[in-house]
Amino acid sequence: MQKSVYIKTYGCQMNVYDSARMADVLAPRGYRQAEAPEDADLIILNTCHIREKAAEKVYSELGRLKRIKLNRRAAGKDAAIAVAGCVAQAEGAEIRRRAPAVDLVFGPQSYHRLPELLDRAKRDGSAIGQDFEADEKFDTLPEESASQGPSAFLTVQEGCDKFCTFCVVPYTRGAEFSRPAAAILAEARRMVAGGTREIALLGQNVNAYAGAAPLGVRGGAKGGVWGLGRLIRELAEVEGLDRIRYTTSHPRDMDDDLIAAHADVPALMPYLHLPVQSGSDRILAAMNRKHTADDYRRTVDRLRASRPDLALSSDFIVGFPGETDGDFAATLKLVTGIGYAQAYSFKYSARPGTPAAEADGQVPEAVKAGRLAALQQLLEAQQAAFNHACIGRTMPVLLDRPGRKPGQLVGRSPWMQAVHVAAPAERLGSIADIAIDRATANSLAGRLAAAPAPPARVRTGGLRAEGARAA
Ligand code: 5AD
Ligand code: SF4
Repeated sequence: MQKSVYIKTYGCQMNVYDSARMADVLAPRGYRQAEAPEDADLIILNTCHIREKAAEKVYSELGRLKRIKLNRRAAGKDAAIAVAGCVAQAEGAEIRRRAPAVDLVFGPQSYHRLPELLDRAKRDGSAIGQDFEADEKFDTLPEESASQGPSAFLTVQEGCDKFCTFCVVPYTRGAEFSRPAAAILAEARRMVAGGTREIALLGQNVNAYAGAAPLGVRGGAKGGVWGLGRLIRELAEVEGLDRIRYTTSHPRDMDDDLIAAHADVPALMPYLHLPVQSGSDRILAAMNRKHTADDYRRTVDRLRASRPDLALSSDFIVGFPGETDGDFAATLKLVTGIGYAQAYSFKYSARPGTPAAEADGQVPEAVKAGRLAALQQLLEAQQAAFNHACIGRTMPVLLDRPGRKPGQLVGRSPWMQAVHVAAPAERLGSIADIAIDRATANSLAGRLAAAPAPPARVRTGGLRAEGARAA
């Protein structure tokens, strides 16, 4: 029987990927995707627990969904509500208490059991999914997956063993696990056969990847185990896969082979999200980041020596417990020195169960707000400078979605900038050379270039946030 599911996704790209796989698991059961929760027999919230605001959003959404559920039930229709993801993992019992309308709660490792959990919920009135091992999850997912389009995510690693003192991820996503390389290569080939041109490899600690090498293949340095550099080199051999990215990386796990891959593999895009969190060694130590600000600077220097046009992005936390004006000034100094193309910055949010939530020296909200505004001003100026430096250049853009206006397509530059262009719809899914003539704080605009441009490495050398140092 035809049924419909509406999946709302919060948080990171890994949740986006997980939501797509939930749809894959449900498709053989007759579930098609609904456009709105009002039209769905099953509503799934795939949730994020990283900061308090993200978790609280789930409870307010559940209030709204309860009314939709009651309306559907009054009209004699099915309406089950499920909470998935990291809030489900961390606060299962709390969800049941605060939102009794919820029928099903399951964490990030158990969504492959969705059909079974749904049956149980129907039979018993409600169900909580226990978490299983990450390898079991990947082993039992269906091979069939709906196309994600020209640019797609592929999870290669899950979980985190780093235990930064502010972070819930090691508790909600569990220990580090790497999928075997053969399964990743097979999934990548299927994606490319379905029209994907760019794959972003996902993992909470993606550059800690250490996956079993395919049978019969020599594993290289680690003997039977591939690191991320090796995996990327092998993926680059997949015919039709033009672009490879990876996210999110920890500065500690940037090994020589991965850094060298940035020089050797043209398909590896010149953009790297490498979170530093703070520029103060005292705060980095209190965060248990296991690197200093200078370690990070040296890693960036080596990456830029390998790929001179590499653009960097980072995450920052301001107002971590004990952060002084001097510590915050060290963060501004680091940002000024590195020059970021893009960045995310957050006020520290105390997460129950993490060491920093109990630490002395919690920073007042007003101080956090002031520091966040100052940091964002600097980061926005760097991003604007980076974007403006692109005017007059021609760059290959993967046109991956229609624009808002008719006749317009939107794509991504090698450096992750959104690029708007007037182009015929049949160019969707292709990589086109675009001459950039306009830049805003967040995006670029240009026109289809007449002549084909030379290969990316030659064309793009030396592009970075030149204005950054002056900011
Ligand atoms: N408070 C604020 N920001 C946080 N992040 C993780 N935990 C917290 C927290 N407790 C940020 C980090 C991380 C990003 C995904 O979210 O910067 O890199
Ligand atoms: Fe969280 Fe740190 Fe692990 Fe990143 S490395 S997921 S910030 S604990």
